[in-house]
Amino acid sequence: MKSSMLFPALVLLAKGINAYYTLGHLLVNNTETLKWAYMRDVSGVEFSEKGNPQYVDVLTTNDVRCGRDAWRLNHETLTADVLAGSVIGVRKTRSHPDNAASDWIYHIGPGQVYLAKAPANIDDLFKIATIGAVNDTDWYLDGLKLRDWNPTIPKSTPPGKYLLRHEQIWPRPPQEEVIQTTQFYVNCAQINVIGEGGGTPGPTVKFPGAYAADSPGISIPKGSEYYDEDRKQMQWTMGFLNYTAPGPQIWSG
Ligand SMILES: *[C@@H]1O[C@H](CO)[C@@H](O)[C@H](O)[C@H]1NC(C)=O
Ligand SMILES: *[C@@H]1O[C@H](CO)[C@@H](O)[C@H](O)[C@H]1NC(C)=O
Ligand SMILES: *[C@@H]1O[C@H](CO)[C@@H](O)[C@H](O)[C@H]1NC(C)=O
Repeated sequence: MKSSMLFPALVLLAKGINAYYTLGHLLVNNTETLKWAYMRDVSGVEFSEKGNPQYVDVLTTNDVRCGRDAWRLNHETLTADVLAGSVIGVRKTRSHPDNAASDWIYHIGPGQVYLAKAPANIDDLFKIATIGAVNDTDWYLDGLKLRDWNPTIPKSTPPGKYLLRHEQIWPRPPQEEVIQTTQFYVNCAQINVIGEGGGTPGPTVKFPGAYAADSPGISIPKGSEYYDEDRKQMQWTMGFLNYTAPGPQIWSG
């Protein structure tokens, strides 16, 4: 059943589930690390007076880099040793209410991982992974199922310290006066890549700058989003496979 009037966040609120989320846990060596240990904390995470600190929807702010205020140099965040060629991962922050239901990534859309070499090239990010739809009705990072994805740090990544930028995108249609309403759930980890190196990562982009409101993959066509009552989930009239996430091509080493 279709209902274009129902906004999914309201539906989720009605069920007592947090409407938004952050990804505060880095997974290294197949182990979940403590929240905000290796991920840069975002300010006012939970019930901030700043509005909805969990996501970014203004592409021109510095917050699009690592989430609210987390683009600043953060001396409290630890740096995780990661072997080149191994998988890493991210997991939704345990929050209020502290139960399994709150651990879902439930806004539909892709996930992407970028790296930037610290400190000299910290503003130059290259993309190492993206994960999109499984088929026209489900995303890999599906909101209604608890799933991790485990992107690989390319084997030939030059060793050293990196900023790891993770984004999960909820692509949305533009609305009335607003050019784009797509939400970006962005969080950054600090990692130290150990390996032989040998690769030349690229192309690189900057945040803010890489995405504009009219870039391909930022918005979906007006009228294409609807709420599926049976699935309790947003769907797109054109299907999810008909979408390519924004940004540069992937560097895989
Ligand atoms: C992951 O495993 C490697 C190899 O054993 C180790 O050097 C590194 O410290 C581990 N990283 C973390 C964050 O535990
Ligand atoms: C789409 O993918 C989901 C998740 O893997 C699966 O449950 C569903 O059956 C798939 N739908 C079709 C039409 O294949
Ligand atoms: C994908 O979207 C474009 C533009 O809206 C449309 O022309 C095309 O038919 C769509 N493809 C599928 C498979 O739905």
